[in-house]
Amino acid sequence: MWVWTFMWPKYSGSPDLCALLSCSKVTSVSNVLKNFEAIPSFAAPSGGRLSDSMVAEFEEAGVLVLRDFVSTKACDALRARAAELVAEFDPSDVRSVFSTTEQTQLDDDYFIESGDKIRFFLESDAFADDGNLRQEKEHCLNKMGHAMHDLDPVFDGFSRNPDLAEVAKRVGFTDPVILQSMYIFKPPNIGGEVVCHQDSTYIYTEPESCVGFWFALEDATLENGCMQFIPGGHKMPLKQRNYRGSDGKLVTETLDDSPWPEENKLPAEAPAGTLVIFDGRSPHLSAANRSSKSRHAYTLHVIDGGCHYPASNWLQRSEDLPLRGFAEG
Ligand code: FE2
Repeated sequence: MWVWTFMWPKYSGSPDLCALLSCSKVTSVSNVLKNFEAIPSFAAPSGGRLSDSMVAEFEEAGVLVLRDFVSTKACDALRARAAELVAEFDPSDVRSVFSTTEQTQLDDDYFIESGDKIRFFLESDAFADDGNLRQEKEHCLNKMGHAMHDLDPVFDGFSRNPDLAEVAKRVGFTDPVILQSMYIFKPPNIGGEVVCHQDSTYIYTEPESCVGFWFALEDATLENGCMQFIPGGHKMPLKQRNYRGSDGKLVTETLDDSPWPEENKLPAEAPAGTLVIFDGRSPHLSAANRSSKSRHAYTLHVIDGGCHYPASNWLQRSEDLPLRGFAEG
C-alpha cells in the first residue's frame, strides 16, 4: 500500500501566484476565448529573466514557448541517461499500461505508488497479439516517472537549472516545489494519443498553483505528435478532478461536461531545447505518433509550497523523500 504520511501545510497565502493563476479564472468560455494566431513564442531570455511582456503573454494565453532554453548537449545528456535507466528495466516485471483513453492505470498500484519512485509505463499498443513487444523495448515505453528529479543525479541537475528557477519566480511562484517529473517517450509508430485535459485535474492544490515545464529533447512536430494547446483556455473552469476515493481507488469526477473547444487548438511545434510553460488549467492534447521518429520530452510539474496539497491527490510522497524546490540539495 502507498504511504499517506506526507502532508502539506495549510495555504498561508501566495498573492502573486493567486493573481496570475487562480483569481483571474472566469467561467464563461465564450467570453474568454479570443482568437490566437499562434502560441506566444520567444527566444529564451538570458538567465530565464522573462520580460514583463512575456509574462503578460503567458498570463493571456496560459502557455508560452521559449526556444533554445537548454542546449542540444544538455538534451542529449538527459536522453543518454534515460537510455541507461531503460536498459536496466525489465518489461516482464511490469503489467502497467498508460492510456488516457482507457484509464487503465487508475486501478493500478504500480502507478499510484510511483510518486516517489522511478517507474516505467508501457504504451497501450506495446504488445503484439503473441504477447511479445511489438518493437524494441525503448520504443514501447510511454513514460518514466515520477521522481527522477529527486532520485537520479543527472535528472536532478537538469531539473534544478537556475534559469528555470528564475522563470518560475517570474511567472509568480513564491515557494516553487517540484512535485513530479516525467520522461515522455512518444515512440515511433505506436506513440499514444493524449486526449484534451488540464493538468490541474491530477495535480490539484488550493488555490490552484500547478504549472507545467515541458522540455523538447527531440524535435516535436505535428508529424510525431507535438503538444497542442487551446490558448486562453486556462481561463475556463477546471473540468475534472482526479482523486483517491474512500476505498483508495482513483476516481475522476467531472465538474463540467461541456465539450472542449478544440477548434481553437494550436500546435506547439518545438525544436529540441525548447521549453514550453503552461498553466495547470491550460487545455492541451497530443495526437498519436504514427511516424518513424520518436518524440522524447521531459516534464516537470511545479506547485507552490504555500498552497494546500490535499491528501486525496494521487501523488503522495513518503517521509523519506520530502519535496524540494529548485535549490541544490
Ligand atoms: Fe498534460
